[in-house]
Formats: sequence, C-alpha cells, structure tokens
Amino acid sequence: MAPKKKITIAIDGPAGSGKSTTARRVAEELGYLFLDSGAMYRSVTFLILRDGADPHDQNASREAAQKARFQFKRDRRGERVILNGEDVTDVIRTPLVTNNIAPVAANPAVRAILVDKQRELGKNGGIVAEGRDIGTVVFRDAELKVFLNASIDERARRRAKELRAKGIPVDFDKLLQEIRRRDRSDSTREHGALKMAPDAVQIDTSALTIDQQVAVVVEQAKIRGA
Ligand code: DC
Repeated sequence: MAPKKKITIAIDGPAGSGKSTTARRVAEELGYLFLDSGAMYRSVTFLILRDGADPHDQNASREAAQKARFQFKRDRRGERVILNGEDVTDVIRTPLVTNNIAPVAANPAVRAILVDKQRELGKNGGIVAEGRDIGTVVFRDAELKVFLNASIDERARRRAKELRAKGIPVDFDKLLQEIRRRDRSDSTREHGALKMAPDAVQIDTSALTIDQQVAVVVEQAKIRGA
C-alpha cells in the first residue's frame, strides 16, 4: 500500500451548510489540523468592537487584523479559539459580532493578512480548512476541494435547532431573512467571495446526516492518498 500523504482539504459553502461540523469531524478522523477561518474574521470583528472602533473604518480593521494572534486548541469542551491569549470561542458567535462581520470580511487588507496566517498554518499539509474562499484563494492547490450546500430552508431549520438547543427563542422568518442577507454579502463581495472552485466536489447536504457527509469527504480524501 502506498504511504499515506498529509493532504490539504478545503471545505467551502454558505452559512448552515454543515461545513464546520463536517470539517471538524473529518480532521478528527484523519488526525489533521482543523482550521475554522470564519473564527478569524469573527475574532477580528470582536477586537474592533471591543476597542470601540467602527467595523467600516478600514484602517482600524487592518490594525485589528495585524495585532490578532491566533491559537486553536482542543480541550474537553471541544475546539477553542484563543485570541491574543484570551478564550473568545463563545463571544465571537454572539449576534453582535455576526451582524458586524460583513464590512470587515469585505476589507481587502484584512483578507490579505488573514489569508497569510491561514497559509502559514497549512504550510505542511495535513489540514482541513473551512470557510468561503479556501479552495478559490487560500489553498488553490488543495488536493481535495469540497463545496457543501443545502437548501435555504434546511439551513434555516438547522440554525433554528442549534439556537433552540441553547435556549434562545427563534423567529423562523427572521432567521430566513438573516441567512439570505448573509448569502448575499458572502457571494457579492469583491474580494474572497463565496464561489465554488471549478475542481471542487459538490455535495448537497439537504438530505444527508452529518455521519454521511463526513463519510463522503473522508472517502474522497482517501482516494487522494490521505
Ligand atoms: O463560517 P462563519 O459563519 O463562522 O463565518 C463568519 C463570517 O466570516 C461569514 O459571514 C463570512 C466571513 N468569512 C469569510 O469572509 N471568509 C472566510 N474564509 C470565512 C468566513
């Protein structure tokens, strides 16, 4: 049998397509590093807001990206995001942060800085990275590119379930609108827009369980030598 390679796996897709869970589980199965690039855009947005700066201020956003030092580690609570020594895993998922990301993620200087950090983390392969531009910009040479998608109703249903599990009340129509708005800003921004790489394997997850999604990606990775 040929020796196993430490390949690079890029997983892109819209909010609610199951990227994070799938990428995390694939990384665990293969013993690879898991990179949640959305957590980096969230962390920079959090820094800007905490400094009382405006997310539309291009210079303040660039400076926040420059001073952000990331560590990703796994403990008994799961995957943790450490920003400049502080555990920000939960605070970066609050609606305040989510609703202010768009101008930060559209800022080309922020993107260039974060893309460099992502490439540094992935320089030796053996990584599963997920986001919006991983297969098209960050790791264009990834051995395996996956584009996950699901119908908007299904993505909203998943998000509603997640929120309800945390005891947060859900207005389903409002949730649908928010996802539509995020899809629009993710797909239409000039830099790092969400689009499928021509060489990506496309998976519609609407009718798949997480176990099935993970199995498909792991199988594709093994075909490519992982
Ligand atoms: O995957 P997520 O929902 O945590 O991502 C949060 C936001 O960050 C998303 O709305 C768009 C942005 N993002 C990005 O612009 N590029 C990436 N590679 C990952 C996320």
